[in-house]
Amino acid sequence: MSQFEQQDELNHPRTETPQFTQMIERGLSRRGFLGGSVALGAAAFFTLTPIGQSIAATLAPVGSSLLGFKAVPASTTDTVVVPEGYQVERLISWGDPLFADAAEFSNQLGQNTAAQQKRQFGDNTDGMSLFPVDQHTAILAINNEYTNYELMFAHQGKRMTAADVQYAQAAHGVSVLTLVKNEQGWRFDKSGAFNRRIDANTPMDISGPAQGHALLQTQADPQGKTALGTFNNCANGMTPWGTYLTCEENFNGYFGSDAQVDLSPAFVRYGIAAEDAGYSWYKFDPRFDLAQAPNEPNRFGWVVEVDPHNPHAKPVKRTALGRFKHENAELVIADDGRVVVYLGDDERGEHIYRFVSRSLYNPADQAANRDLLDDGELFVAQFNEDGSGEWLSLAHGQNGLTAENGFSSQAEILIHARLAATQVGATTMDRPEWIAVHPHEPVVFCTLTNNKNRGLNDNQPVAGPNPRAENHYGQIVRWRPTAGQHTAKGFQWDLFLMAGNPSVHTGTAYAGSSNITADNMFNSPDGIGFDQAGRLWIQSDGNYSNQGDFAGQGNNQMLCADPKTGEVRRFLTGPVACEITGLAFTADQKTLFIGVQHPGEEGAPSHFPMGGDSVPRSSVMVITRTDGGVIGA
Ligand code: FEO
Ligand code: CA
Ligand code: CA
Repeated sequence: MSQFEQQDELNHPRTETPQFTQMIERGLSRRGFLGGSVALGAAAFFTLTPIGQSIAATLAPVGSSLLGFKAVPASTTDTVVVPEGYQVERLISWGDPLFADAAEFSNQLGQNTAAQQKRQFGDNTDGMSLFPVDQHTAILAINNEYTNYELMFAHQGKRMTAADVQYAQAAHGVSVLTLVKNEQGWRFDKSGAFNRRIDANTPMDISGPAQGHALLQTQADPQGKTALGTFNNCANGMTPWGTYLTCEENFNGYFGSDAQVDLSPAFVRYGIAAEDAGYSWYKFDPRFDLAQAPNEPNRFGWVVEVDPHNPHAKPVKRTALGRFKHENAELVIADDGRVVVYLGDDERGEHIYRFVSRSLYNPADQAANRDLLDDGELFVAQFNEDGSGEWLSLAHGQNGLTAENGFSSQAEILIHARLAATQVGATTMDRPEWIAVHPHEPVVFCTLTNNKNRGLNDNQPVAGPNPRAENHYGQIVRWRPTAGQHTAKGFQWDLFLMAGNPSVHTGTAYAGSSNITADNMFNSPDGIGFDQAGRLWIQSDGNYSNQGDFAGQGNNQMLCADPKTGEVRRFLTGPVACEITGLAFTADQKTLFIGVQHPGEEGAPSHFPMGGDSVPRSSVMVITRTDGGVIGA
């Protein structure tokens, strides 16, 4: 069970399970959401929808020839497997020196220190973005989401000390890497000018409408304008003005208290509880003790903007984008020049959001774009049964977001965005993970990774884009904004795929959609992203038991889909007990960086990537073709 699952189970225990077969029937009876034209898992519904047709009409008529590689089989080995004609190398692993004078990682647990970790690559690599500098230089900004105490300490987290907590805090945040290209390809340069570590104690500004609000004020920061650090940095985004967006996800699990604490309804909604997720930070750092610093949790759960080109630039928490358990931040410039950011909140029954900037992006003056993310309107998505949907405004005074209903200002709406979303009637989703916009079409894809509570909790009915009860496979929803405008109020949606297991659940909704076969099946889509040609890359963070409902699916993996034909092909398989997360392409599309997170978690038998009896370590991998061609083509 992942860190998220444990914390979520703690705060939102599952309802008693009703008869499983009843739930299946209920799910199937709702298949009208596909227009009644096809049975789930039996036909290519995605080619029958208006969205599918419009993609088909405008993309090059190549069909599945968009996918030019031979699929790899499912795997349970402790390696990364890539297709024939491809090669994979290690770029950097947790604990590797990030600077020329930094210490090496020690396999002797207990030997690594906070001071060393502050100058080493962080743990649990996640979202990443590549910023080209020139033909031979690039910057790779990478999130370091969390830590696995069982892999970090000889005592496995059972006898934490203040020094241990400092070490763990130093392993979180963001690592910025200078990459150089030589004859061997793209390599990390320990002496590079852009190298930087941002961790759970790095000072950063709080900006936007919630800056300075009473709920953000603490004893250490009475102005509510300067926070220390960022952590649980999940996925990411990048702006056309050259900055990196790092998104704070399960921040709640770092707070706790041994004292009696009153939990506000907002704290409960955000999963903040006296019992933490096992990190023990609050026991040694009063900032994380709810009794001592009751507003500190409000200073996390934001999107943070980082300038990777300037190692001294202070990161900025952009409150206009709302506070929730952020997955990624997919930014697109609308036709009228406004900046649109699509945002997912990854928890069962939470929502999908959209930010639209007030001012216009100015490509001729990048400095003028620096604060575009401070001023704009936040919306939350409502998906209707008939395939339509609309964006509901979270502006103060609209849709019942008034003082009488507990929202005294825009700042309070942003700090308690989840409560505001419920107030306006947003659709509860199956854990929204990454969102990706097609590079040539105004179509947006979002992974809904899974939701064991669907159909069980009253606020999470089997409906619309969440069509299966006790959904442990996940699906990908997509939508086309009205008239192709990302700023439009309305959209049309359909499902691009439903993951499933056609070998175990033949003929039911749990077999998955028709583009899922025994050869490409997987569960829990999470990271997604498009390359320049419009291939959709899909990464999984799911159950890797390879048993029962997941038999034949093997380790977590990466797949590639053709958005026009719906074909899905497995591209890569990861080592034991990892998730694959994070992807970035070089400008020529000939090098792909991907992340292997938490191999060997919870004692699973992995020694990736070093082998022997080494400590398994989260790592970034570099993938190229032996013939130097474009990845995926
Ligand atoms: Fe950090 Fe929702 O994955
Ligand atoms: Ca994720
Ligand atoms: Ca996930």
